[in-house]
Amino acid sequence: MAQKNVLITGASSGIGYELAKIFAQNQYNLVLVARNETKLNELKKELEEKYKNTVWILAKDLSKPEAPQEVYNWTQSQNIEIHELVNNAGFGDFGKFHEAKWQKQQEMLQLNIHALVELTHLYLLNMVAKKYGRILNVASTAAFQPGPLMAVYYATKSFVLHFSEGIANELQGTGVTVTALCPGATESGFQAAAAMEESKLVKGKKLPTSYDVALYGYKEMQKGTIVAIHGMMNYLLANSVRFTPRALVRSIVRGMQEKSK
Ligand SMILES: NC(=O)c1ccc[n+]([C@@H]2O[C@H](COP(=O)([O-])OP(=O)(O)OC[C@H]3O[C@@H](n4cnc5c(N)ncnc54)[C@H](OP(=O)(O)O)[C@@H]3O)[C@@H](O)[C@H]2O)c1
Repeated sequence: MAQKNVLITGASSGIGYELAKIFAQNQYNLVLVARNETKLNELKKELEEKYKNTVWILAKDLSKPEAPQEVYNWTQSQNIEIHELVNNAGFGDFGKFHEAKWQKQQEMLQLNIHALVELTHLYLLNMVAKKYGRILNVASTAAFQPGPLMAVYYATKSFVLHFSEGIANELQGTGVTVTALCPGATESGFQAAAAMEESKLVKGKKLPTSYDVALYGYKEMQKGTIVAIHGMMNYLLANSVRFTPRALVRSIVRGMQEKSK
């Protein structure tokens, strides 16, 4: 195959931004999607100068129901075949569900779940027809248990994990792989977007960098690993949940999520 094209959502910051750089280093052409056009333009300029690849950018709010189809229509209109897809854009919201702003929850559900599923559906058919494709869906270690104080977010990531595992199984033997990347708390714009800087989960903690997580995610995606949990401690914690009474899991997560005094 000539140079491959990858579409990355949420490429203007954090893990998606680092993934864009890693794909560029590996000779891919990139389609970068996020809302912040200025940041996408800066990244396009930097990468094209450094790696002499082609970077297309598309400023889109993927929490709008029509956005995934518009992204697909645009790549079709430009004759850009998508060989690999990274569904990375996502955000969380800290606080009790009954006190949360509904609009933010709705946008989170739309972005973290609907956009990811629809983009996967739109691009997958051609990947299967061509007998080649790689999909990386960014879930989280939040996917493995309920998350008091971020209940909607944890549930969206649980969806992403289970959806990804389900289709990964269906796609065996087609040449297309699906990887659910499960990072733990990571240094990025995520904490500010989720208003969780005071949570014990992150405050004062030395977190892995977005680059560390992106590099791990890229490698596991290329290997076709189905569930990729970043970090040994995260791996052990995610798996220990299965052997721990659910009531205990809920109260441990609540304790970890609380604001630090
Ligand atoms: N950081 C962590 O602790 C952590 C842990 C586990 C999983 N994750 C997951 O990792 C993924 C990447 O997050 P991150 O940590 O890199 O956070 P981040 O630095 O806040 O990056 C989020 C990216 O998503 C984009 N985005 C947000 N809302 C969007 C929208 N409505 N439409 C289009 N793009 C949108 C943002 O770009 P614009 O603002 O320009 O739109 C940005 O590029 C998310 O799915 C997150 O849930 C993060």
